Amino acid sequence: MSGHGEAQPMTARKSGPLSGTAAVPGDKSISHRALIFGAMAVGETQITGLLEGQDVLDTAKAMRAFGAEVTRHGLGDWSVHGVGVGGFREPADVIDCGNSGTGVRLIMGTMATTAMTATFTGDASLRKRPMGRVTDPLSLFGTRAYGRQGGRLPMTVVGAANPVPVRYALPVASAQVKSAVLLAGLNAPGETVVIEREPTRDHSERMLLGFGAELHVEKGTEGHIITLKGRPELRPQSVAVPRDPSSAAFPVCAALIVEGSDILVPGVSQNLTRNGLYITLVEMGAEIDFQNPREEGGEPVADLRVRFSGNLKGIEVPPERAPSMIDEYPILSVVAAFATGKTVMKGVKELRVKESDRIDAMARGLEACGVRIEEDEDTLIVHGMGAGGMPGGATAATHLDHRIAMSFLVAGMAAQKPVSVDDASPILTSFPIFEGLMKDLGATLERG
Ligand code: S3P
Repeated sequence: MSGHGEAQPMTARKSGPLSGTAAVPGDKSISHRALIFGAMAVGETQITGLLEGQDVLDTAKAMRAFGAEVTRHGLGDWSVHGVGVGGFREPADVIDCGNSGTGVRLIMGTMATTAMTATFTGDASLRKRPMGRVTDPLSLFGTRAYGRQGGRLPMTVVGAANPVPVRYALPVASAQVKSAVLLAGLNAPGETVVIEREPTRDHSERMLLGFGAELHVEKGTEGHIITLKGRPELRPQSVAVPRDPSSAAFPVCAALIVEGSDILVPGVSQNLTRNGLYITLVEMGAEIDFQNPREEGGEPVADLRVRFSGNLKGIEVPPERAPSMIDEYPILSVVAAFATGKTVMKGVKELRVKESDRIDAMARGLEACGVRIEEDEDTLIVHGMGAGGMPGGATAATHLDHRIAMSFLVAGMAAQKPVSVDDASPILTSFPIFEGLMKDLGATLERG
């Protein structure tokens, strides 16, 4: 859907106050993994709360192409009849992962240690993104990959017929790379070991344990040493997908900057590998109450009561926090524009290889809205203009990036003049109900 159809411009006007409950959809990372691990189990996995965004639908389609039976029973209610570890069949056609880096990288890992060949492609955004970070470690198993210059899609991956187990220290803090290696390790004999210096989202590890794999994590001076025993028989599970904290970030941040707002966002993950934004917002002076802490779908969650916060202060975000909020820097940079003082985001060069170069996309769009920005390869600095201080009155280019589109629409809800985006259609990849949900809270969003 995203990037394949016509561009869908959208405009946000000064809104609010925002009020009510923002029930955001299922977690994208966990939804991809539920489908993929379900496909690797023997028998039927039931999933509730699955995100029906285009990224996840593309992964569902890919799992069917590799031989799993994937069935939709109702909204968010799905089942996967898995083929077992090593049971994938060779797909008859090219696998199109659309806009999804997580989809393509995890699926490459999953097929990499089975004797078969698969060709992967994606939309114009995904075809620009580097795949070498995954195919390099996969080559250690004996997998071969042939792509375009710079390791770009389309790419043909030849799975290893006789894989060997691997010990791999991640050169970048990436849950996608970690997960691809673990998924490949599932069908290798012996023990596959992944070492990560900085902890990244741990959904694959949690889910592997849930599906009955033998996995242990040792926390040492080197970081986390994750050891997985190959060739387990994965047992099908009932997976209740919790809400997506990366989607919750948009109504939460909108309420913080739109005057008079007071909203409730239920079930926001407090998983330490995902909650960096919320810690940062509190440090900036955000009025957020974390209510009713509990566990949902195996994740620690809380209900967030969020109120307009007119005295936000710019801070320096610790670089070691980046992996736990990597997808949230675009919306944080919008909040920073409504704070006083500067917000310094260092150690964020991974943002340059997301669905778009997010440092560049945010810097150019915020500058067009009248905000002073400084940037270098690894840093973004936003000079805040205080509550209600952003002039707005600009159109931001979204570069097929859902989070850039949603960030600028949130900016427009609090800026003095409207803010438009050239294409809101990528929002469908991760947050298909964004427009309706934000309007129900009181946001003024218009097509065009
Ligand atoms: C994801 C990992 C992150 C994140 C992406 C989802 C995942 O990417 O940006 O949206 O589900 O594993 P990296 O692993 O490249 O940091």
